[in-house]
Amino acid sequence: MEEISILISEEKVSERIRQLGEEISSDYQGKEIRLVCILKGGAPFACELAKRISVPVVMDYMQAASYGGSTVSSGDVKLVKDLDMPIEGQHVLIAEDIIDTGNTLAALTELLQQRGAADIKICALLDKPARRTQKKIEADYCGFSVPDSFVVGMGLDYDQRYRNLPYIGILSFKEA
Ligand code: IMP
Ligand code: MG
Repeated sequence: MEEISILISEEKVSERIRQLGEEISSDYQGKEIRLVCILKGGAPFACELAKRISVPVVMDYMQAASYGGSTVSSGDVKLVKDLDMPIEGQHVLIAEDIIDTGNTLAALTELLQQRGAADIKICALLDKPARRTQKKIEADYCGFSVPDSFVVGMGLDYDQRYRNLPYIGILSFKEA
């Protein structure tokens, strides 16, 4: 049986996203942000963040292959859906749910760099630094650092479920 214990409340998540939006708005004064949402997990965070940014924002979406039903990363990243618009000369801000090993963002940022963006920054709701294998991948903006547990909610899933939870919870498995 799966059990979820609350790690970060809905109120804390909302307040932190509001702060990130303020910080980003002040850093990007006079610029337009191309907010690149990494599907599917980054979607709830990207939407909440976009609402808190006061400079112009254009949103686009891309998707990398995910874990499947397992809780362990395969390290093998595939592009499932590409962006709709070119990013040449754009100020790209990537919105992702969590940086775990860093494999997904290492692959995606390398791809986007080749397309001549003016700059590329990463905004992650969560960071799990204990599991990072891609040492050069860091969040420019990060909501919360989390321990090495499997977390769900605010876009993060287990087997496609729990993405809709408005808080961040730790998932554990108990004997029925
Ligand atoms: P990375 O490529 O190892 O950094 O993993 C990134 C992706 O793995 C995230 O976008 C999530 O979809 C997934 N992931 C990593 N850790 C967790 C977790 O604790 N819960 C749910 N999904 C996770
Ligand atoms: Mg994801």
